[in-house]
Amino acid sequence: MAKILVTGGLGQIGSELVPALRARYGGERVVASDIRLPPAGANSSDGPFEFIDCTRQSQLRAVVHKHEIDTIYHLAALLSAVAEEKPHIAWDVNMGGLYRVLEVARADGCAVFFPSSIGAFGPSTPKEATPQDTIQRPTTMYGVTKAAGELLCDYYHERFHVDTRGVRFPGLVSHMAPPGGGTTDYAVEIFFAAIRHGRYTSFLGPETRLDMMYMPDALEAVVGVMEADPARLAHRNSFNVTAMSLTPEELAAEIRRHVPGFEIEYDIDPVRQAIADSWPDSIDDSAAHAEWDWAPSHDLRSMTADMIEKLRNKLGIPA
Ligand code: NAD
Ligand code: SER
Repeated sequence: MAKILVTGGLGQIGSELVPALRARYGGERVVASDIRLPPAGANSSDGPFEFIDCTRQSQLRAVVHKHEIDTIYHLAALLSAVAEEKPHIAWDVNMGGLYRVLEVARADGCAVFFPSSIGAFGPSTPKEATPQDTIQRPTTMYGVTKAAGELLCDYYHERFHVDTRGVRFPGLVSHMAPPGGGTTDYAVEIFFAAIRHGRYTSFLGPETRLDMMYMPDALEAVVGVMEADPARLAHRNSFNVTAMSLTPEELAAEIRRHVPGFEIEYDIDPVRQAIADSWPDSIDDSAAHAEWDWAPSHDLRSMTADMIEKLRNKLGIPA
């Protein structure tokens, strides 16, 4: 059975992926790591934690050897808005980190999961039902690192037979850990603001349409692609996956069904708006359906109902 290392394991995805992998494969078989330390009071008995800066190959290699790792879920990266603020650091972390993970994987025979993004597309990509294989000319540093990362993962599979696999995630909505500085963060912030204040100021405009997914489906996607029969995979890096395509106006209307009187206003951030405008409105994930039976469980209605219920409990603010 797999012995797993998760990089960037304290972020929005890792905070939920690590427990999900531990539940599936066993606590001791999943090593969480990050450049930050777990918050005080975190339950260290759930499984091992190691400090790893993914740009340091020696740190990666030492942990892979120490725990006899055979599969690396490489989540560490800077997200789109932060990457646009700090493009040089984003290149070092996103590309340098991936390259070093792939080098360790090549030397030690590990499989690698790499999360790409709708950010790997750009303004010249078809905007509606964006195909699996299409034009990729991203105009952000984040997108450059994701498009190049997909190619590098394919190269390591073809050239060195590293079992690399990935998905292109849309914006992810969740309530456990805050999002890390992306363009789609509004779709998480809006829920917290709705329950705490009954109003939200969106940094993206009302008609900005982007793909989204609820975190439980994202976790299913990660496990689904990693456990897929390799004989069925015509693609590897990276599969389009989506669950819904929505605008801030549409999300606000759905939240209003649970929080009557909820108000949304707009104070557009030109940087994040430009990033969002360069991304698809909706992507076609039929290749993932066909090659590894991908099928999301949550749509806008069920995600909103579950987010509101979970957040009311978490924040202690009843309806
Ligand atoms: P996040 O920003 O919440 O977490 C990233 C983690 O990486 C953080 O805990 C951070 O401390 C860590 N990190 C940063 N630099 C590091 C370094 N040098 N070495 C080791 N760790 C480092 O991000 P996330 O939302 O959990 O995303 C994880 C991955 O999924 C990223 O590659 C991201 O691009 C991708 N992704 C996320 C989304 C989304 O909506 N969350 C969508 C598409 C793709
Ligand atoms: N949620 C991510 C971001 O906005 C998409 O990759 O950066």
